[in-house]
Amino acid sequence: MAEKSMHGKTLFISGGTRGIGKAMVYAYAEKGCAVAFTYASSADTAKEIIADIESKYSVKCRAYKLDILEPLTYKDVYKLFDEDFDRLDYFISNAIISGRAVVGGFGPFMRLKPRGLNNIYTATVDAFVVGAQEAAKRMEVTGGGSIISMSSTGNLVYTPNYAGHGTNKAAVEAMVRYAAAELGEKNIRVNAVSGGPIDTDALKAFPNYEEVKGEVVRRSPLSRMGEVTDLTGACLFLCSTESSWLTGQTIVVDGGTTFQ
Ligand SMILES: NC(=O)c1ccc[n+]([C@@H]2O[C@H](COP(=O)([O-])OP(=O)(O)OC[C@H]3O[C@@H](n4cnc5c(N)ncnc54)[C@H](OP(=O)(O)O)[C@@H]3O)[C@@H](O)[C@H]2O)c1
Repeated sequence: MAEKSMHGKTLFISGGTRGIGKAMVYAYAEKGCAVAFTYASSADTAKEIIADIESKYSVKCRAYKLDILEPLTYKDVYKLFDEDFDRLDYFISNAIISGRAVVGGFGPFMRLKPRGLNNIYTATVDAFVVGAQEAAKRMEVTGGGSIISMSSTGNLVYTPNYAGHGTNKAAVEAMVRYAAAELGEKNIRVNAVSGGPIDTDALKAFPNYEEVKGEVVRRSPLSRMGEVTDLTGACLFLCSTESSWLTGQTIVVDGGTTFQ
């Protein structure tokens, strides 16, 4: 059960302009949580989301430009965050790269190339590390918090073309466990939420999108693909006091597709 109210709390999430990240921005704001999110190129969309969130939910909402291929720039983004917000309670590492940046990392095994694979590592693991370190420094001041990395079941089940992302999601889940082991003493919990295939732009970029969609619907005992809102419940739970002894874990939300 998620907290009834998150009034007075603040979420920082990377990649809030589309897909799963945008659904998170709305889900937390609906609970009364102030929200800071990042974008890469969708500056206009970010402005629209801010206006919509502030008018619908009367919570503070701000957005900052971030490139997760340059993870250390997180530090500058957090400085801007500090000018707008006086506390941080929840951090979700959500943004993901696509397009040119994943060439050589997204494709069949025999076409994988170090540069593409390294880009995905940078955007997945390095970005999580720097984003979470900066978050932890701020959470420590107010007595704790909850950090989440988005992951995907492509590290558990074979997904065509997904070797680069799948291996790096496995890596970030391992990093989550290490962070959890060391940040617990600061009352900071660290977990991952691993989603099965969700109908987003990222998935639509798959060359065989229709085939993947059909296969997911067939495999799921619930006979449907995931929607962007399907992962918000697990994240809200991980940020609530109901999960106060839950750390170092990955919650799989996959519509039952992983076992089939
Ligand atoms: N889709 C799925 O099936 C699925 C399933 C399970 C888990 N996930 C995970 O959930 C997370 C979100 O996925 P999604 O499908 O919602 O992604 P998406 O629709 O492709 O959205 C990506 C987000 O990341 C931002 N972004 C793109 N390139 C960036 C860069 N270089 N630096 C910083 N931000 C950048 C985008 O901002 P702009 O709009 O400004 O470009 C956007 O907000 C990812 O970690 C993904 O692995 C996805």
